[in-house]
Amino acid sequence: MNILHIDSSIQGDASASRQLSAAIADRLRRAHPDADYRHRDLIEAPTPHLTLDTVMAGDNDLLAEFLAADTVVIGAPLYNFTIPSQLKAWFDHVIVAGRTFQYGVEGPVGLVPDKRVIVAVARGGVYAEGSPYAPYEHAETLMRVLLGFIGVTRPEFVVAEGLKLGDEPRAAALAAASAQVEALAA
Ligand SMILES: Cc1cc2nc3c(=O)[nH]c(=O)nc-3n(C[C@H](O)[C@H](O)[C@H](O)COP(=O)(O)O)c2cc1C
Repeated sequence: MNILHIDSSIQGDASASRQLSAAIADRLRRAHPDADYRHRDLIEAPTPHLTLDTVMAGDNDLLAEFLAADTVVIGAPLYNFTIPSQLKAWFDHVIVAGRTFQYGVEGPVGLVPDKRVIVAVARGGVYAEGSPYAPYEHAETLMRVLLGFIGVTRPEFVVAEGLKLGDEPRAAALAAASAQVEALAA
């Protein structure tokens, strides 16, 4: 088993998405002690933005690393209503025509073989279905589109939200998200 763990929060030790993604990775590694494990910190080692050369080259190290993983854990904060630009840049390197998707007569087809993707999302406000701000959420919704487009049809999401609403709501949201982590299949 090969686990790839990606983080993209700028908030270091105070980061909720890092805390949750680490808990998910720990849970998987405890269940699979022999698993290969790689941590990619998109803040420590920023991913370059796409260039035409990168697009024309097709294959790249980030894509190879992604394809080699059986399970991918992604820590994804909500910044300005979407994912951090560092994480968007990572997706840009992974969504590659002919490698992770292709166009067929009936439209685009995802090419990513069976892969488990677990995303830990951290949000300051509340965007749950039915909340007035639900339409402002473009992190979880974007990642569902991007992952589905390349063939990851059943991504798993652990969400902590309302983290900026005060100490108590934050603690309650993190406790609920930790329970979601413990309920994940290991
Ligand atoms: C630069 C920045 C932008 C943010 N933008 C939003 C936002 O648009 N909506 C929101 O609900 N919270 C926003 N927040 C709050 C974060 O979603 C919250 O701090 C969350 O914990 C981020 O995940 P992290 O702790 O892993 O960094 C923002 C925080 C930062 C630092």
